[in-house]
Amino acid sequence: MNGGIVVLTGAGVSAESGVRTFRAADGLWEEHRIEDVATVEGFTRDPVLVHRFYNERRQTLATVQPNAAHQALANFEKNYTGDFLLVTQNIDDLHERAGSKRLIHMHGELLRMFCTQCMHNINITGDSSVEDTCVACGKRGGMRPDIVWFGEMPYQMSAIEQALMQCDLFVAIGTSGNVYPAAGFVQSARAIGARCVELNLEQSTTHHLFDEGRYGPATEEVEAFFSALLKTSSLTQ
Ligand code: OAD
Repeated sequence: MNGGIVVLTGAGVSAESGVRTFRAADGLWEEHRIEDVATVEGFTRDPVLVHRFYNERRQTLATVQPNAAHQALANFEKNYTGDFLLVTQNIDDLHERAGSKRLIHMHGELLRMFCTQCMHNINITGDSSVEDTCVACGKRGGMRPDIVWFGEMPYQMSAIEQALMQCDLFVAIGTSGNVYPAAGFVQSARAIGARCVELNLEQSTTHHLFDEGRYGPATEEVEAFFSALLKTSSLTQ
């Protein structure tokens, strides 16, 4: 990577848009147990509930907008001449709506479904159900949300690892550091000598691995950090 930057975002970057974060003190995700709505076992047990759960999450996308943090990242990417990769754990589409292009949704996307029979992947904006038929193989009942559930492999890990192996700066934003492999990216970046910065409301569980932590709302910290970075990077070119 040339002046390579890898940014990892978590639920905290979308919090001020009105999307709820995951790790509330009660350990529930929108009033549901994670095992029920974010595992293959939960889906096998009660697919109707799981479709309804993600339909509700998908419907809320129409009510939220990208915030200043999403916009600051998209603006930085547009103006930065070095290598840049944004990796998000979020399943909302707020980064792309803000204009981010070099973006990996490592935990999947609310606006995608795939067929468990033939693996065909489709875009979706409305509701899904157990009755849906796959447009590719014609089989009914096998469509599921394209979300990486617990116990499944996140997407594009080799591209992410490759970017981390070549980056000079790694920035983690609004993520609690509880879910691996994303929580381990800081270790990969540190191992090759990259500067590691955490921007969060409070210290994450991996905060001690970062060279620097800045704590406050993402809409303020992300904007401040990346506009300053853009200024210094244009001075050094
Ligand atoms: P969490 O809910 O675990 O953590 C959210 C983090 O955002 C916390 O560290 C908060 O302090 C911080 N935060 C909250 N509001 C903020 C704000 N306004 N500005 C800045 N930071 C703020 O969410 P993640 O770490 O993203 O997986 O969770 C990781 C994964 O666990 C998710 O992708 C999801 C979940 O299970 C899947 O869906 C597969």
